[in-house]
Amino acid sequence: MAAHSRVVILDFGSQYTQVIARRVRECQVYSQILPHDTPAAEIAALNPKGIILSGGPSSVYAKKAPHPDRAIFSLGLPVLGICYGVQLMAHFLGGKVEHGGKREYGHGQLRLTHKCALFDGLGKTMDVWNSHGDKLTKLPKGFRAIGRTDNSEYAVIEEPKRRFYGLQFHPEVVHTPRGKELLENFVYEICGAAPDWTMGSFIEETCAGIREKVGSDHVILGLSGGVDSSVAAALLHKAVGDQLTCVFVNNGLLRENEAENVQRVFGEHFKIKLKYVDASDRFLKKLKGVTDPEKKRKIIGNEFVYVFDDAVKSLAGNSKSKIQNPKFKWLAQGTLYPDVIESVAIAGNPAALIKSHHNVGGLPKNMKLKLLEPLRELFKDEVREVGAQLGLPREIVQRQPFPGPGLAVRILGEITPERLRVLREADTIVVSEMKAADWYYKVWQSFAVLLPVKSVGVMGDERTYEDTCAVRVVESQDGMTADWVRLPYDLLARISSRIVNEVKGINRCVYDITSKPPGTIEWE
Ligand code: XMP
Repeated sequence: MAAHSRVVILDFGSQYTQVIARRVRECQVYSQILPHDTPAAEIAALNPKGIILSGGPSSVYAKKAPHPDRAIFSLGLPVLGICYGVQLMAHFLGGKVEHGGKREYGHGQLRLTHKCALFDGLGKTMDVWNSHGDKLTKLPKGFRAIGRTDNSEYAVIEEPKRRFYGLQFHPEVVHTPRGKELLENFVYEICGAAPDWTMGSFIEETCAGIREKVGSDHVILGLSGGVDSSVAAALLHKAVGDQLTCVFVNNGLLRENEAENVQRVFGEHFKIKLKYVDASDRFLKKLKGVTDPEKKRKIIGNEFVYVFDDAVKSLAGNSKSKIQNPKFKWLAQGTLYPDVIESVAIAGNPAALIKSHHNVGGLPKNMKLKLLEPLRELFKDEVREVGAQLGLPREIVQRQPFPGPGLAVRILGEITPERLRVLREADTIVVSEMKAADWYYKVWQSFAVLLPVKSVGVMGDERTYEDTCAVRVVESQDGMTADWVRLPYDLLARISSRIVNEVKGINRCVYDITSKPPGTIEWE
């Protein structure tokens, strides 16, 4: 990759570390998250324009508190410490940090007392978001305080000669409305970084890189129809054309028309070599009688590997086992940056605890193919932009996440062809009403769940006794936490009345008003 301006973010376990990285990239500056104890020499070798120290749940004096390599303060690079980051800076450079006594949490008003390059153009007061227990009580030598909040005398500190800055509050979160401008000042004015990280340049450079790596070899990719694998497919196709073959497995647990749509977009429109495998019967047979959610996931995961393996074998017409096909040397995957970052395993770091239990299509460990992961530098929103620039339709680029085990985790109890039909019909109604009301693309997910709960109803003159459908619509930034969406009653009424009237097998519809945590987004 060409030498972009780069800012390094050391991760001390804050749940907001990735948000900082995204904000920096929104400034079109490439940001890279590294473990908190990355040696200074390794950081220097990356030639970054500056370093940001993230927040974190620890206290600098705690026994296992994560510390950076002290030498990062001697690299001659600008450093911005955020929350725990500023406390570390003070601690390492000779200041003092104490238990705040009173935790400062939530909205606050920052009042600037001196001019500071970080706040250029931002006025004298600013709404900020706080979340810290400890606080600075003595500044390191050479530093001065330039802003305060009701609770912190040292809410902003600086040592402009060495270009060291510290913020007690969180500029990266939306509750600090002008935080983005503040970060812009840091990356452009203080670090001197250039806004040269664009998705256009990413596409060109990545395609060139792929071509060089792959040469005349063939590449295989498991296409699920989700955003990540779709964008990976389009990008690889641009890079190596017909050397790419995609395998799309219909596991019988897809939504209405999903298989047809994927074949239309990738096969017909993009003219990508696509092997469509209808393995519905195979999956459904294995799932017969299974009601335990974890068992369902396991069966589906394992079966996927077998089916994928068979497909690759048959593609090159030989019977060698386990995807060691001489024709294909590379396996491409739509791995994203958040999957790659090593979360800091510190007690109290929610980001570390909620490790995704569900990466789709886990492939065999003894797989001999070399991995190609062209999206592993990108965040989801960047992937969407790449997809759009490559000409993928909005319905793919902006689509909602859909779980790997598909409708299996939305049918509570046994999965049968009949119950799949019922859920598909209900789900189609949810999606089409959400789209018609212009809500579909505004929410994280919106879908139907089929419950094995029968209740009594009345239709015309007849008594009914049928299943219940739960409608789940949530908003979320990343799926880790979520809240149910306050949809207009009229829209809920339309969804409910259509499901109960049109879907044979459902006579009651309920709306799920559980947030995550303590609930999860999917029901299983
Ligand atoms: P939960 O239900 O854990 O879901 O709150 C969080 C997000 O992950 C999606 N999800 C999955 N995605 N394979 C996937 O690829 C899975 O097994 C799986 N389970 C849940 C879910 O749709 C939500 O966006």
